Amino acid sequence: MTALLEARGLSYAYPDGTPALRGLSFRLDACQKAALVGANGSGKSTLLLHFAGCYAPKSGEILLRGEPVGKNLQALRDSAGMVFQDPDDQLFMPSVAEDVAFGLLARKTKAAPALAAGNACLERLGISRLGSRPPHRLSNGEKRLVAIAGILVMNPEIILLDEPSSSLDPQARRTVISILKELPKPMIIATHDLEMARALCGTAVIMHRGRAVAEGAPDELLRDGKLLEQYGL
Ligand SMILES: Nc1ncnc2c1ncn2[C@@H]1O[C@H](COP(=O)(O)OP(=O)(O)O)[C@@H](O)[C@H]1O
Ligand SMILES: [Mg+2]
Repeated sequence: MTALLEARGLSYAYPDGTPALRGLSFRLDACQKAALVGANGSGKSTLLLHFAGCYAPKSGEILLRGEPVGKNLQALRDSAGMVFQDPDDQLFMPSVAEDVAFGLLARKTKAAPALAAGNACLERLGISRLGSRPPHRLSNGEKRLVAIAGILVMNPEIILLDEPSSSLDPQARRTVISILKELPKPMIIATHDLEMARALCGTAVIMHRGRAVAEGAPDELLRDGKLLEQYGL
């Protein structure tokens, strides 16, 4: 079967020379939710940024529905919506309501329906009270929820989430998990939250030093104490 999204032999080093991906291969099937787990610095964020069309691979290739993307990073940007690891990278409008509606406004949705859709997302996440607040004055957990709302409202075909549960309180974390669980969409979730990976994902991939080193059902993989220790989890 053709993968929905695939990386083949992907390598990438940052401009200062730090290698981040070293011949990584990975595939996501339609409707699959996959967890990326791995120690800090193993390359999870770098891989998601490639899939989001933010970085171009130095070598190897990315395929979308079996077609090599090449230099057409816009194809990835149109298909995938990413919640960044640092919400400050994503939030920049004067109010939460405008921030969440921003993506729709940029796609020429009229203001009233864009704001209404944004507000519905805030409500689902239990944070409609934050609508008029400036995003940069929110707590880290609140910022993360707003960033998640800003992606969900766009209804992207593929959702990429970089540590979506970090800094959330237990109730917000449960809300996010249940929303993502109900959403019948392909997702890649980079996380240290192994419980969330178990609850959401049919597959988990362990990353180590820029490569995918193991893949399996989260329950089996994440029960293997030796394996987890070997890869710093
Ligand atoms: N902007 C950057 N400039 C230089 N090196 C970076 C940058 N971002 C990440 N790295 C390095 O790339 C490697 C992979 O990082 P990252 O993808 O952020 O890993 P993870 O998300 O798994 O923690 C690490 O060695 C990290 O230090
Ligand atoms: Mg990261």
